[in-house]
Amino acid sequence: MGYVGLCTAATLASRGIRTIGIDIDQARVEQIRKGKAPLHEPHLDTMLKNGVKKKLLDATSEISVVAGTDTTFLTVGTPSQQDGSIDLSYIKNATEDLGNVLREKRGYHLVVVKSTVVPGTTNGTVRRFLEQSSRKTVGEELGLCANPEFLKEGTAINDALHPDKIVIGSNDKKSAHELTRLYRRFYGSKLPPLILTTPEAAELVKYASNAFLATKVSFINTIANIAEQIPGVDVGTIAEAIGLDPRIGSLFLKAGPGYGGSCFHKDLQALINYSQNRNYDPVLFRATEETNEQQAVRVVGIAEKLLGSLSSKRIAVLGLAFKKDTDDIREAASIRVINQLKKKGARVVAYDPMAIPNTKKTLSDQIDYAENAYSALKGADCAIIVTEWDQIRKLKSEDFRTYMKTPNIVDARRILDPQQYTQMNYIAIGTGPSRA
Ligand SMILES: NC(=O)c1ccc[n+]([C@@H]2O[C@H](COP(=O)([O-])OP(=O)(O)OC[C@H]3O[C@@H](n4cnc5c(N)ncnc54)[C@H](O)[C@@H]3O)[C@@H](O)[C@H]2O)c1
Repeated sequence: MGYVGLCTAATLASRGIRTIGIDIDQARVEQIRKGKAPLHEPHLDTMLKNGVKKKLLDATSEISVVAGTDTTFLTVGTPSQQDGSIDLSYIKNATEDLGNVLREKRGYHLVVVKSTVVPGTTNGTVRRFLEQSSRKTVGEELGLCANPEFLKEGTAINDALHPDKIVIGSNDKKSAHELTRLYRRFYGSKLPPLILTTPEAAELVKYASNAFLATKVSFINTIANIAEQIPGVDVGTIAEAIGLDPRIGSLFLKAGPGYGGSCFHKDLQALINYSQNRNYDPVLFRATEETNEQQAVRVVGIAEKLLGSLSSKRIAVLGLAFKKDTDDIREAASIRVINQLKKKGARVVAYDPMAIPNTKKTLSDQIDYAENAYSALKGADCAIIVTEWDQIRKLKSEDFRTYMKTPNIVDARRILDPQQYTQMNYIAIGTGPSRA
């Protein structure tokens, strides 16, 4: 019942499909049962409340309820291990628990791996654990599909309701048929394009998708860093122009402080590790990651350009979430920027409309937290905009002038209008020096 599981469950229930969410986290289960989302995602709360009220959605930590269902989606986390390789321990535990219950179940049961797993996992680890613990065979009483999830945090509900594709990987016709039937019921005449393939190909589609998107971000950040060296050049113009070429496309061409979130870094690391273990070094993806890591250093470098030494300087970090409309700070650029600022001896005060509770769990009292953007700016020597929240976009040039000790602004998200800041020390990432 994390981001993927809960959003999947809530949307299934919203289309009249009876759904039970299972999680080992008791507190999370209790909250869901009360119709309250344990994480911030637009529209999720309402959907959850409706589902619970109509008795179409329930939650429990008692996995035995699976015996009374037809299909199980595995949506547990697949984090990184120390060396970047995928940690399958949650998958193994959940599959084993599931198999133990399915041993007693009569009739067919379909298991769907929605978690992101490296090629071969569904047909290898999952199949092995499932068959051993259930004492049943995939292709007979058990169905098994790889069905990666492509939803994005911040727009997860909309993405789950209107995906651009559904990818189903299976080894037997019945599994694929049963899952397709469920999706036909869910989407009706609006069924998105369906790609039916092998489990391994379905698994690789997910990694290819995230690796491409991450590389697109590192690509435009590289162009931004070059643009910064050229008087009269702004990366926004370059992105707009190349984005008009349909082979390139305009989305994901926004220069910024680097990608974050629970997936890109973790999935790239898993893919790199997977590939290296098969004697192929994916140099491109290592460069994508290295570029991303360096981007936070560059952001702090711009602050140094404005201020000189950052030692003992008060820096307001505006935005902590890895993007707007989420409280998720996993792998967020803000954390890399803050670590870099701390290394330089700066005093950091941070503001975020949603993500402060999560940040406190990671950074505790290493930094100060502000209740709103104005109090973050109060007495600051420099403000760094890290997340593109509307609350931050709405700030006016007077706000910076009024509250800050000295109005130095690093706009790492390029969300302010540079015309309003000509009288201040304002630098947006990817903007070359103005021609004197
Ligand atoms: N978050 C995203 O935007 C996103 C998008 C697409 C794909 N994915 C993939 O989906 C998977 C889940 O990601 P997430 O962000 O939803 O994870 P998450 O960490 O938010 O949630 C995982 C949940 O699984 C629960 N859990 C762990 N072990 C369990 C067990 N044995 N039985 C029952 N519950 C158990 C945890 O308590 C937690 O609530 C990952 O593989 C991720 O890569 C995530």
